Parts: sequence; C-alpha cells; structure tokens
Amino acid sequence: MGRSFDYVILGGGVAAGYAALEFSKKGVSHGELCIISDEPVAPYERPTLSKAFLLPEAPARLPGFHTCVGANEERLTPKWYKDHGIELILGTRVKSADVRSKTLSTVTGETITYKYLIVATGARALKLEEIGINGSNAENVFYLRDLADATKLVNTMRTCNGGNAIVIGGGYIGMECAASLVINKINVSMVFPDSYCMGRLFTPKIASYYEDVYKSKGVNFIKGTALTSFAFDSEGKVSGANLKDGRYLPVDMVVVGIGACPNTNLFENQLTFENGGVKVNSRLQSSNTSVYAVGDIASFPVKLFGDTRRLEHVDAARKSAKHAVSAIMEPNNTSEFDYLPFFYSRVFSLSWQFYGDNAGEVVHFGDFSGTRFGAYWVNNDRVVGCFLEGGDKEDYEDIAKVIRVKPTVADLGELERRGVEFAAGV
Ligand code: FDA
Repeated sequence: MGRSFDYVILGGGVAAGYAALEFSKKGVSHGELCIISDEPVAPYERPTLSKAFLLPEAPARLPGFHTCVGANEERLTPKWYKDHGIELILGTRVKSADVRSKTLSTVTGETITYKYLIVATGARALKLEEIGINGSNAENVFYLRDLADATKLVNTMRTCNGGNAIVIGGGYIGMECAASLVINKINVSMVFPDSYCMGRLFTPKIASYYEDVYKSKGVNFIKGTALTSFAFDSEGKVSGANLKDGRYLPVDMVVVGIGACPNTNLFENQLTFENGGVKVNSRLQSSNTSVYAVGDIASFPVKLFGDTRRLEHVDAARKSAKHAVSAIMEPNNTSEFDYLPFFYSRVFSLSWQFYGDNAGEVVHFGDFSGTRFGAYWVNNDRVVGCFLEGGDKEDYEDIAKVIRVKPTVADLGELERRGVEFAAGV
C-alpha cells in the first residue's frame, strides 16, 4: 500500500502543529500535506503536560491545548486539519526512512513518498535503565514526555494524596513535576547529584531562591547524591529507593526526569549529524536537499552567537518549524533563520524567562528577597544572556532586545545597579 504527498511532516508534536499552520498560511492545497505521528492525537502544546495538565483543579485537557494556542495563534483541532485538507495519520509509527527514494515505511505496512520531508520527531525521555537502574516498568514509576505519560501520572497522583513521591532529577521536568506533586498534596523529595537545581542554566544564587520557595511548600531536597536501586513490593511496585549516600527512602511513586534523547535513529548514516541532532543550514535544510529538520532534533546555526546549537525548547520548535515551511514554500522570500535562544518556565506563582547565552561572568540584579530579580551574563565585555524572574511583558521584551543588541559594558556595577532598567535603556 502506498501514498504520495508533496509535503510530509514526520512527527506530530509542537513543531508539526506550527509547520501545519504555516503551510496553510502559505496556501498549501488540499491533499498535498500529511502529518505522520505515533501519538493518537493531533499536535498539542507539550509544555502544558507538566503545568496545567497536572493541576488538581480545572486542569487543561484536549482539545483545549492543541497547537498553536501557546503562541496565541489558531487552535488546530482535528476538524481544522480536515477542513484544510491536511491528512493526519495518527497512532502510526514510521519504522524506516530512505532519503534517496524519498520513502517512509510505517509499522502498519504503508509506504509514503514525499517531495519534501520535514523531520520533527522530537526527543524521548531517557530511561533509568540507560544509567544502569532497573524499574522503569513498575506501575508507579513515571516519565513525562507525552499525553499517555501525563495521563498515567495524573491518575496515580489522584490516588496518592498524603503519600511519598520521589522526583529523580533537578532539571525543568523534575522541578515542574515536583511543584505539581506538591499542589496535589503529595510529599516530595527531589534527588539529584548536583549541588543545586537547574544546574545547566541557573547560578547557585538563582537556584537557591527557587529551592527556598520549594522548601517552603514542603519539598525535601536531597542533593549531591543519586539513586542506585529500587526496592519492590510483592506486586512489583517500587516501595523504596536506595541512594548512593546510603539513605533509604520509602516510596509510593517515582517521577523520573533525567534528560532527553533526540529521536534521530531513522536518519543515522543518511544525513549529517552534529550535537547529537540532524545538522541543518540557516534554511533548516539537512544534508539532503529534500529533507528539513526542526524542533528538538535540529542542530542549526545560531547567527547571534556564531555557532551551531540543538535546543530542546518549545520556542525553538515553533519558530524553526515556521521558518522551514517558509524556506520550502517561498525560497526566494525567506531570509536566514536568525534565532534568539529563549527558555521559560512557570511553577507555583513563579515565572521566569531567559534569553541568549549563559556564558561568561554573571551579574545578579534586583531583589532576591522579593519577587523580581535576575542576572546578566557578560562574555568578552558584551552582554550575552539575561534571566529574569517576575517581569512583566515589557520587561521581557526589553531583555530580549538587549540580548539581540549584545551591547558592550565597561562597568559591570552598572548592570547590577540598574537591572532591567539597563535593558530598557539600550
Ligand atoms: P515533540 O516531542 O513535541 O514532537 C515529536 C513528535 O514526533 C511526537 O508526537 C512523537 O510521538 C513523534 N514521533 C517521534 N518518532 C516518531 C516516529 N518514528 N514515527 C511517528 N512519530 C514519531 N520547553 C520550554 O521551552 N519551556 C517549557 O516550559 C517546556 N516544558 C516542557 C514540558 C514537558 C513535559 C516536555 C516533555 C517538554 C517541555 N518543553 C518545554 C520542551 C518542548 O516541549 C519541546 O522542545 C518541544 O515539544 C519540541 O517540539 P518537537 O516538535 O521537536 O518535538
């Protein structure tokens, strides 16, 4: 069985949804475009899974968070795809790809050929077994990457009131899940080997602020050590966790957030790779001219910093997807992808944004005993990164703008004294 499309998007996550919207804006005709996804639902805003989806009251549910509501754009429900003649091939895993013959083969035995392929397969959660620990299959051990994971997690959280959860990992999945567990009235211990949370982005001072907030909500931090093994009960459920420092923690449920791994295996030995992802040019085009890569798997040139990066963040997924479609549909009107790295998170009533690069010297500013503070990163005398907690829309626009400009600063004290005002004045 075989079908043929002008444009195929492989993967049905964030990037796929934003690519579909852009295709429709650029006038794709009925029957020309399809999306193939192994998830059973149309593309949705994945970050919602660790935020509003986990809330005990008025939680977000589909169809409420289909793309592209996260960027205040149209919400693409299954009906939208139907009305726009875009084929959604859901619940279908692509098991092999041959870029020479421009053919994808699915586990259902179908072959799909394309003129242009956008690869948007995202990433998968790293499993405990990959760091030498058994137990992922236990029914009370959870990961959080897709709707199925989140649904399973919610169902258990509902029955675990007053119980003990451990969160393995101090990155954003761990932090956001810990907050949600606490909101669901579950006792939480966070276990991670670093000396402070969100070590890839936060400074110790910034981390200490968030850890204090978490502690005030009852979260117990167990830092500088790691999980070594689980104890299981007679039903095969995890009943306890053994830590490297000799401690034993009784456990009702475990949430694992130890990192992600890009889903690129279909294209190994067929496309050029860099930073663990598919290397693309400033049009998001891979080493095969018919294949574009976007979102978490794309390693793309970041003009602002003169290097190539792979960013596992939602804003990069949205914008790279949009740009790739423009490069395919309007090649002569599409300039280089000029992306400003941007990450954000929201937990409890806290909300932060970060723009640029966290390289070089750090200058903290603002009121760390209050609700509005941040940091600049200065590299080779230029301001290259800015983090801000508790800003308003205008503040965030200002810090994004200042990082685009990368102004030189002679006096770091000025950054500390003026804080966001410095950005506003550039
Ligand atoms: P995405 O993972 O969204 O989609 C990939 C799709 O491809 C999936 O549908 C997958 O099933 C499918 N697929 C893969 N292989 C396939 C195959 N062989 N056949 C068929 N289908 C296949 N970022 C941020 O900046 N701020 C935030 O607060 C958060 N929060 C957050 C929470 C949670 C719980 C997660 C998991 C992630 C975030 N992120 C985030 C990261 C953000 O969600 C992520 O960067 C984007 O979803 C990436 O979009 P992609 O489309 O590249 O992959």
